[in-house]
Amino acid sequence: MASQNIYILAIESSCDDTAAAILKNDTLLSNIVATQEVHQKYGGVVPELASRAHQQNIVPVIHQAITKANIDKKEISAIAFTKGPGLMGSLLVGTSFAKSLSLGLNIPLIEVNHMQAHILAHFIKEENYDIPEFPFLAMTISGGHTQIIKVISHFEMEVIGQTIDDAVGEAFDKSAKIMGLPYPGGPLIDKYAQLGNPKAFPFTKPKVGGLDFSFSGLKTAVLYFIQKQVKKNPNFIEENRNDICASIQYTIIQILMDKLKKAVKQTGINQIAIGGGVSANSGIRKALKEAEGKYGWKTYVPKFEYTTDNAAMIGIVGYYKYLAKEFTDLSVTAQARYKI
Ligand code: KG4
Ligand code: ZN
Repeated sequence: MASQNIYILAIESSCDDTAAAILKNDTLLSNIVATQEVHQKYGGVVPELASRAHQQNIVPVIHQAITKANIDKKEISAIAFTKGPGLMGSLLVGTSFAKSLSLGLNIPLIEVNHMQAHILAHFIKEENYDIPEFPFLAMTISGGHTQIIKVISHFEMEVIGQTIDDAVGEAFDKSAKIMGLPYPGGPLIDKYAQLGNPKAFPFTKPKVGGLDFSFSGLKTAVLYFIQKQVKKNPNFIEENRNDICASIQYTIIQILMDKLKKAVKQTGINQIAIGGGVSANSGIRKALKEAEGKYGWKTYVPKFEYTTDNAAMIGIVGYYKYLAKEFTDLSVTAQARYKI
């Protein structure tokens, strides 16, 4: 007898994207994201505004996900939601909604760790896409995290390196802000970097031991460098935008690649998967591709729609937890700091 299909409704609201997705087993049926534009003029996410926007978006986003998947609410097997890490006010919206819906539909509830989801996004079934084999190394690079993780199985993960200050996404966004670019500046730095000379302005790399990262020094170096140049030439940024962006991006990628090389050496694992918003970056994608030929690594880079925050990745964790019967009871609460 054919086994029954599992339909997961997934909800993600940890930061400034309100997202919902439906998965049929490990296949994605719909993936809806409402990105909050309201933060742009503040140059960063304003937590209070984020939770209000989640309140407004959550019903239409979930409705759209169910409609697009072309299923009936009654077919949903379980609800998966982001318990943390993230902004408390944002997490509370998704968590409360998931709890109520699970109660209303009388179906199980599944809690998901957002960072684990960035890694397991690689397990969403896609045509022409190999899924990673265990064990592999995952590097999560986002606006809130920078970690290297040894992934032993779907739920067994060990953090072997992480940032001691800023996340890599912050290094992109803060550098962009110094240059007068709007938030989030990461994608813009990427765009201009592709037109510039990466060796135009050398920035020193931090000296941090082991597999840990540091990015706050780079931000300061960029600030001082630009202040000094602008004093000499007020048009320095406009005249050199592409080269500045290329140089910043080059330095960041060198920092990430150096630590990855070290991690491969230390663990003997040469399968690498990346996840998180910064994995959309063209430079890191290119560097990893090159590493395949140069060092014999096998690398896994997610589809663009799974790089920044989305609910599809929450849904795939939900699916594996459903199979493992790892359900949560209704007393669950959101958790702003939540270890992998
Ligand atoms: O994973 P994500 O959507 O949210 C967090 O959990 O933080 O990541 C957002 C981060 C932002 O810092 C954004 O600037 C960065 O990802 N980002 C990029 C690119 N696309 C997004 N950074 C560099 N290059 C990109 N193409
Ligand atoms: Zn994220």
